[in-house]
Amino acid sequence: PTGTRYEAENATIVRGVVESNHAGHTGTGFVNYDNAVGSYVEFTITAANAGTATLAFRFANGTTTNRPMDIVVNGTVIAAGKAFNGTGAWTTWQTATVSAQLNAGANTVRATATTANGGPNLDHLEV
Ligand code: GCU
Ligand code: CA
Repeated sequence: PTGTRYEAENATIVRGVVESNHAGHTGTGFVNYDNAVGSYVEFTITAANAGTATLAFRFANGTTTNRPMDIVVNGTVIAAGKAFNGTGAWTTWQTATVSAQLNAGANTVRATATTANGGPNLDHLEV
C-alpha cells in the first residue's frame, strides 16, 4: 500500500542543501547531504496508531561507495549504519526500507551520515 510521503526538502536539514539538478526526484527537489559525518535530515511523521511501520527512504548514490546512515526514531538508533549503496547514477533513485515501532501521533525520524562521504542524495521518506 502507498503510504504517506514526506519530502526531504520539507524536513529539517542539518549540514545539507536542497537541490534539484538530478532528474527523477519527487516534489521540488532532494537533499544533498554535506559530505561529512553527522550531516542529517529529520522528518516529523504522524502515525494514526502505535505499532510497526515500514520506513521507505528514496535515495540516489551516484558513486560506487556505500553511504551508510544511522536511522534514529524518536531519539533511538533503530538501524545503525544502514546501507545506502551506489545506485549507478545520481539520477537513478532506489528505496531502502527499515522497520520501526512508532508511537501514535508525532514521531521523529532522523537519517544521519556516519562517514566522511556524507549521506546519499535523499528524495523522500514514505511511511
Ligand atoms: C555530486 C552530485 C551531488 C552529490 C555529490 C556527493 O556533486 O552532483 O548531488 O551530493 O556528488 O558526492 O555527495
Ligand atoms: Ca552530497
